[in-house]
Amino acid sequence: MTPSEFRQQFPVLEREVYGKPLVYLDSAATSQRPVAVADALSTSMLRRNANIHRAVHALSSEATDAFERSREKVRQFIGAGSPEEIVFTSGTTASINLVAHSFGDKFLSQGDDIIIAESEHHSDIIPWQLLCSRKGSKIVVLPIDDTGRLEVEKLPELISERTKLICVAHISNVLGLINPIGQIIALAHSHGIPVLVDGAQSVAHVSVDVTELDCDFFAFSGHKMYAATGTGVLYAKKKWLEQMDPFMGGGEMIDTVSWERSTYAALPFKFEAGTPNINSVPTFVPAINTVIDSRDPLVALEQDKIKAFVYDALTSDERIVLRGTTQDLGQKIPLFSFSVTGVHHEDLALVLDKMGIAVRSGHMCAQPLMTRYGVTGMVRASFAPYNTLEEAKQFISALNRAITLLKQ
Ligand SMILES: Cc1ncc(COP(=O)(O)O)c(C=O)c1O
Repeated sequence: MTPSEFRQQFPVLEREVYGKPLVYLDSAATSQRPVAVADALSTSMLRRNANIHRAVHALSSEATDAFERSREKVRQFIGAGSPEEIVFTSGTTASINLVAHSFGDKFLSQGDDIIIAESEHHSDIIPWQLLCSRKGSKIVVLPIDDTGRLEVEKLPELISERTKLICVAHISNVLGLINPIGQIIALAHSHGIPVLVDGAQSVAHVSVDVTELDCDFFAFSGHKMYAATGTGVLYAKKKWLEQMDPFMGGGEMIDTVSWERSTYAALPFKFEAGTPNINSVPTFVPAINTVIDSRDPLVALEQDKIKAFVYDALTSDERIVLRGTTQDLGQKIPLFSFSVTGVHHEDLALVLDKMGIAVRSGHMCAQPLMTRYGVTGMVRASFAPYNTLEEAKQFISALNRAITLLKQ
């Protein structure tokens, strides 16, 4: 597949904003949707709509099949051992909250701690803070250095016999650096500590094999990897899911219900209370096919060129401070967060928007990281495999013009 064939699957990229061709560089917030995903959603809504796992009629059984096919596709995609280990949620945030309640309430006690990386998204901070306030436990922070590299060498001294969980993003949504999660998991396991990986930014960009990684929990969102919104996944090792109590109750998550006592459904249904996202979950199938297409060598080559070009341009401009730097671009995805001395990030994003370029600005749901760098926000340009080198060049030239304008 050529990069332009890949791009053609995303009709929104043909549109204009303010009379200028749209350059969409906010894929880390949400990716665009390919036609195949929109078609799958439409088929589900218009041709097959029925509740799943409930009725005996034909539509319900077709909807159930589509939902479970999606689970199997996700299982294969992340290399999980069994569909019982794939829980559908509404997104990464919901997946992490599920673990914070079902694992945290069961396994954490007063005085215990959870180690969390300094660069985490709020979705991998707040659920743990809430848990700690329920339990009287505390958070221990694994720091990053100035370049954004996790200081993994400090992990052994942070681990104690009270450490019950380590939480780390596979890739930070601000820094774009691939964290050494294999190393962290191996070290954690040598102390008997489970690890939760926030994979929100990784699944669309790098291959993930949860069995090889040996992580205990892996959370991600569908909407950042081309699937419909309101879809997410929690992968969890069966041994944990078996021990954890349900997070929410109701619907088909039960086996038997009586006033005295209720028993729960088999895995993974025990963790899928209420009507799940029956129309959107099947879009994981075309979405995963799209991710697979994006790994075609020709598309990947174009991505590498874009990454090198933007990285060089941003690091060679002395007005710009790029966060998340590395000697080895193989360890970074094409996600660039930066500040411009003397220019407010919001102003820069607004001017770029008027030039047709959509970037994110603000704290990016990582306020502790902003504090670490002494800023209130940054600008982030996040590329996806549907972006072109031409767009990258337009971005850099627009950025130059915007900075010059705002610095006057
Ligand atoms: C690293 C990371 N974790 C968690 C989330 C939360 O994802 P969602 O809003 O889909 O639940 C995001 C979203 O930006 C993210 O980038």
